[in-house]
Amino acid sequence: MYAIRVNNLTKKFNGLVAVNSITFSIETGELFGLLGPNGAGKTTTINMLSTLLKPTSGTGEVAGFDVVKNKDDVRRSIGVVFQEPALDTKLTGRENLEFHAMMYGISKEVRKKRTKEVLNLVDLTDKENVLVENYSGGMKRRLEIARGLIHRPKVLFLDENPHWAWMHRRGGTSGII
Ligand SMILES: Nc1ncnc2c1ncn2[C@@H]1O[C@H](COP(=O)(O)OP(=O)(O)O)[C@@H](O)[C@H]1O
Ligand SMILES: [Mg+2]
Repeated sequence: MYAIRVNNLTKKFNGLVAVNSITFSIETGELFGLLGPNGAGKTTTINMLSTLLKPTSGTGEVAGFDVVKNKDDVRRSIGVVFQEPALDTKLTGRENLEFHAMMYGISKEVRKKRTKEVLNLVDLTDKENVLVENYSGGMKRRLEIARGLIHRPKVLFLDENPHWAWMHRRGGTSGII
């Protein structure tokens, strides 16, 4: 079973070819690093695979679902940690996680349990009631990983997140960085 399958995936912005016919497969349980200099097309690739951008041509499949034809199924199957931080700094770490879980329709009881679990996973249990505006940069990145995992995605996308190696040591979800 593949976590991700990409075939001749291409994205053009007007005249600019941002992603030029890439093909690769990632197996379930595999941690996959997509390396390249600034402007190479990494973020554009993640945006296509997470259904935020429509490919110009080629195909992408995530958790067995086509990223154009089965967008909703893909979205339910993934977690995304964006290149730009996307936390509510006026909320505590715990509130950020509970809000995200609520958006995914997770019941209150399960929300509480999962929040505890993921806070523990990223070593932020003792900071759960601290406002995110008082977190360090590394703590924010770890909280974003926790948020990306709270709905138990099959695939986690991490765009430019330096904590990937740390996370891999803890085992778990397939990933693309
Ligand atoms: N929305 C957009 N419109 C036009 N050009 C874009 C857009 N997004 C990205 N690009 C261009 O596509 C190329 C790849 O960018 P990007 O995927 O962000 O690279 P990376 O994440 O590898 O640094 C760059 O030349 C960038 O300027
Ligand atoms: Mg990028």
